[in-house]
Amino acid sequence: MKFLLTLFTASTLLCGPVQATFYHLTDKWVGQDFLDAFAWENITDPTRGRVNYITQADSLAMNLTYAHGDRFIIRPDSVSVLDPNGPGRASNRIISKKTFGHNTVIIADVRHMPQGCGTWPALWSTDVPWPDKGEIDIVEGVNDLGPNQITLHTTANCTMPEVRPQTGTPRFNDCYWEANNYAACGVKTNKPNSYGPDFNAAGGGWFAMERTPTYIRSWFWSRNDPTVPWEVKNPHSFFIGTPFWGLPVANFPNNSCDIASKFSPHHVIINLTFCGDWAGNDYGLSTCPGTCVDYVNNNPQAFVDAYWDIASIRMYGW
Ligand SMILES: *[C@@H]1O[C@H](CO)[C@@H](O)[C@H](O)[C@H]1NC(C)=O
Ligand SMILES: *[C@@H]1O[C@H](CO)[C@@H](O)[C@H](O)[C@H]1NC(C)=O
Ligand SMILES: *[C@@H]1O[C@H](CO)[C@@H](O)[C@H](O)[C@H]1NC(C)=O
Ligand SMILES: *[C@@H]1O[C@H](CO)[C@@H](O)[C@H](O)[C@H]1NC(C)=O
Ligand SMILES: *[C@@H]1O[C@H](CO)[C@@H](O)[C@H](O)[C@H]1NC(C)=O
Repeated sequence: MKFLLTLFTASTLLCGPVQATFYHLTDKWVGQDFLDAFAWENITDPTRGRVNYITQADSLAMNLTYAHGDRFIIRPDSVSVLDPNGPGRASNRIISKKTFGHNTVIIADVRHMPQGCGTWPALWSTDVPWPDKGEIDIVEGVNDLGPNQITLHTTANCTMPEVRPQTGTPRFNDCYWEANNYAACGVKTNKPNSYGPDFNAAGGGWFAMERTPTYIRSWFWSRNDPTVPWEVKNPHSFFIGTPFWGLPVANFPNNSCDIASKFSPHHVIINLTFCGDWAGNDYGLSTCPGTCVDYVNNNPQAFVDAYWDIASIRMYGW
């Protein structure tokens, strides 16, 4: 602590790139904090999912949102068989009221993430108008197929070098939102336990993302990973210093992308949809049975484990 404090103090006196790497706590959401800090978006899923994003009041009343102590749980309806002509499966899409811009870090301590055929969970950040303000997907995947993929979506003229200092594997390098059949530029994590059933079996873990005007970086540590930095693991850390975190999983530098202008201040969003543009279109690539929409309509019990259980989200800045 003392060591870090000294460095932090020093860094605020220095100019140049070192300054961008030390941060202090600005916001911390645990349990009931999420109910005030986030809005439940009662909207039609823009990605055409088989979902019905319900209000906070209805979600609390149905116990599809549960906030108590250090547990914040959001989950879909796992009891109703759906009318094929009616609305989709009830679920939550929550958006932070505050926005976070350059020189911020998010640390999400997640115990459990949604799993199940047809699921498409995401923890990400953006703002409107999209894609002018950019999108950063911190946790995302479909149909239980890990590992986790970190993805940027931008306007034109933002590309990434194939080789860069990161532990993950690039999956496309053009971040333009229309590129690669709308997949934009992603990086796959090199650990199977970064997503879905494997992530949950390991007891979850920590996802972190750092934004500066010159780069975006993302890290992941599984629950029992001995290399998790103490300041990430400790929910009370007031200061963090990303230079101590080792190589990121995903590193998006500014070589041929003006990160500063491609990414505006963002809201944090957590959502779970079903089928739709990604989980539906790629359903056949999984070992999931039948067709996606039929499966989601007719198998409520398959979504008992499709819940987020978040221990905390901490935001750091200057
Ligand atoms: C809003 O939520 C209610 C339930 O809380 C639901 O009946 C309605 O379909 C939702 N509207 C939209 C546009 O998703
Ligand atoms: C609501 O969900 C929580 C968490 O899963 C559970 O502990 C609690 O018993 C549920 N409450 C009711 C009334 O079902
Ligand atoms: C959540 O919504 C956003 C934007 O509409 C979309 O890009 C993202 O993929 C969605 N994911 C889920 C799980 O709904
Ligand atoms: C991308 O670059 C081209 C060529 O310099 C330019 O004409 C275009 O306006 C740029 N588009 C954006 C969205 O930056
Ligand atoms: C790219 O980032 C580096 C630091 O990471 C910075 O020194 C440089 O000025 C940036 N270049 C542009 C064009 O923003």
